[in-house]
Amino acid sequence: MPAPENNIIPVLIIGTLVVVVLITGLFFFVIVYQRKMIKNQVDLRRLEDERQQELLKAVIETQESERKRLAEDLHDSVGQVLSAIKLKLHKLDKQNEGKNEMLADTCKLTDECIQEIRNIIHNVLPPVLTDFGLIDALDALCSKINSSTPIQVSFSKKLSNERFPSAVELTLYRIAQELFGNAVKHSEASAIHIELSKQGYALIMSFRDNGVGFKLDEVKRGFGIKNLHSRVQLINGKIDIYSKPLSGTITTIEIPLPRT
Ligand SMILES: Nc1ncnc2c1ncn2[C@@H]1O[C@H](COP(=O)(O)OP(=O)(O)OP(=O)(O)O)[C@@H](O)[C@H]1O
Ligand SMILES: [Mg+2]
Repeated sequence: MPAPENNIIPVLIIGTLVVVVLITGLFFFVIVYQRKMIKNQVDLRRLEDERQQELLKAVIETQESERKRLAEDLHDSVGQVLSAIKLKLHKLDKQNEGKNEMLADTCKLTDECIQEIRNIIHNVLPPVLTDFGLIDALDALCSKINSSTPIQVSFSKKLSNERFPSAVELTLYRIAQELFGNAVKHSEASAIHIELSKQGYALIMSFRDNGVGFKLDEVKRGFGIKNLHSRVQLINGKIDIYSKPLSGTITTIEIPLPRT
């Protein structure tokens, strides 16, 4: 008959094996569980990013249609009424041979009011963009920044004066407005250069400032940069922002054009 100690050894071996198997199982379970958790988190973040992009797209589309409606309403209703008031006031002023000071002042105020409404309409939806197209609208925008800020703006066009689909023109114009806004607000640049060119079936706009630059992954992104990405995505384009502290910023946008 074997000694009782001899019975303990197989029990110990089996017990140790069971513990090892349990620990290994637990170890694999933790690893698999962790991987699953990480994958779930990545999926969730991707979904959230996609939802945010979709939301931004919807905001941009609503914003643009509201802007258009506002510009049209201002022009057709308030603008027309003010023009009629102006005509009548000027007629009255003429009849009074300019002797009524209050009437003359009211005429002046009406003129100023009409000019203000015109400025608002131009800012909301520049008629030069809808009437003459992107190239002329960018020309006008460059002149405005040139005359209203100390920044020297140059614009080179490597294409003929042609029209592009309205969504493309509006997108590039809004992007240029945001990039000008950023350069004026943040860059401390002394010069900005815009270039518009065509490469095959793509329209390319590059916007360069010689300012302080920034680290894209370190700055707190405002609505502006997020908006640029959504706008470009909306018309299947690509955007690349390259910036380095003290080396200025270059933004390049490539938009596919319809193959006619
Ligand atoms: N041209 C630039 N030169 C230097 N820094 C810039 C430039 N453009 C953007 N930045 C930096 O990137 C940040 C994010 O820009 P973004 O346009 O997203 O937001 P914002 O201009 O601060 O606000 P918003 O556009 O929403 O009014 C800016 O706050 C700024 O620090
Ligand atoms: Mg901005």
